[in-house]
Amino acid sequence: MTTILDLGPSTIRMVLPGQVPSHWAQAYIDAFAAQGLTLVTGDEPAHAGARYALAFRPVPGVLGAMPHLRALFSFGAGVDAFFDDVDLPDVPLIKSVTPTHAMRMTEYITGYVLAHHREMARYAKAQSDHAWKPKQHAAAHRRTVGFLGFGRLGQHAGAVLKQVGFNVIGWRASNTPIEGYDIFSGQAGLPAFLGKCDFMVCLLPLTPETEGIMNSDLFAALPDHAVIIHAGRGPQLVEADLINALDDKQIAHAVIDVFAQEPLPEDNSLWARPDATITPHIASAPDGEEQAVQIAEAIRKIEAGEQPDHVVDRTRGY
Ligand SMILES: NC(=O)c1ccc[n+]([C@@H]2O[C@H](COP(=O)([O-])OP(=O)(O)OC[C@H]3O[C@@H](n4cnc5c(N)ncnc54)[C@H](OP(=O)(O)O)[C@@H]3O)[C@@H](O)[C@H]2O)c1
Repeated sequence: MTTILDLGPSTIRMVLPGQVPSHWAQAYIDAFAAQGLTLVTGDEPAHAGARYALAFRPVPGVLGAMPHLRALFSFGAGVDAFFDDVDLPDVPLIKSVTPTHAMRMTEYITGYVLAHHREMARYAKAQSDHAWKPKQHAAAHRRTVGFLGFGRLGQHAGAVLKQVGFNVIGWRASNTPIEGYDIFSGQAGLPAFLGKCDFMVCLLPLTPETEGIMNSDLFAALPDHAVIIHAGRGPQLVEADLINALDDKQIAHAVIDVFAQEPLPEDNSLWARPDATITPHIASAPDGEEQAVQIAEAIRKIEAGEQPDHVVDRTRGY
C-alpha cells in the first residue's frame, strides 16, 4: 500500500487508497492547513509528479518511478519493508514517531507482563472450576524484564515497568549507558542479558543482524520459567525453534504479535497452544491524526530547507 502526497507549487495532492482510514484525510487537511499548505485529496495517484510519499510496505518499483520525491514517510516505526525495494529513491526516509505510538506499545507490554506476573490465567481457570486456590507470587522487584532492543519504544515501556517495581534491563547495539538501567550490548553481552530475563521483550528493528535472532541458541540461554513477548518483526523469530523450545519446556510461554507470514495461517500449530498467546500485529499502531501533524511539520521543514526529524540511518537500517 502506498499513499502519495503530491506537493505542487501551491497545493498538495494526497491520495489515500487501500488501508488508510478515510477519516484520516480530514486530519491531513487540517494539519497541512496549519502549516499554510493547501491540501487537495483525490483518488488518482499522481505518481510521477509526487514530491512526498507515505507507505508501509511499498510495492517494489513504485517509489522509484517518482523522480521528484523529496522525502519518504513510513506509516510505522519499523522501516524494514522499504529496503526490499532495490530501487528505493535516495531521499530522506522518515519513520513515524508519534506520542501515543509508544504509549500503546507500553500498554501491550505491561499488560502481558502483569498478566503473567500475577498469573491471571491461573485465577481465571480457578474461577471456572469454582476453586479457591490462593498462591504466593514473587515481588516485582525480584523479577527482571529484559528488552531485546532498548530504543524509543523499549525505554518507554521500561520506565513504566520500573515504576511498577520490576528490575528492567536492556540489550542494544551501542554500549552507551542509559541511566537507571543495566545495559548489555552486542553479541558478547547477549548470553549474560538472556540469563537474567524472567520476561524477555523483543522490540528490535528488522535488519540483517536481527533476522532469525530468536532461535534455539537464544531460547537455550533463557531461564526455563521465562516468558517472551515478541512485538518486533516476524522474521526475527525462528518459529520451528520456538515450538521446540516450548515443547522442551526451555521457556514457559510466548506472547507473539508479529509473524514471518501475516496473517498467521489457520493451520499454524501455535494457535492452539496453551503456552502461546497470539495477537494479530496490533501491539501498537500509529495515530493518523498525530501522524498527519508530524508529516506536515516535516514537509514544512524540508520545503524551508531545514533538517526534518526522525530520519532513518540507512547504514544501520533503522
Ligand atoms: N508490533 C507492533 O505493532 C510494532 C509497532 C511499532 C514498532 N514495532 C517494532 O519495534 C521496533 C523498535 O521500534 P523503536 O521505535 O523502539 O526503534 P528504535 O528507537 O530505533 O530502537 C531500536 C533498538 O534496537 C537496538 N538494536 C538495533 N539493532 C541491533 C542489533 N543488531 N543488536 C542489538 N541491538 C540492536 C537499538 O540499539 P541502539 O540503542 O544502540 O541504537 C535500539 O536500542 C520497530 O523497528 C518495529 O520493528 C512493532
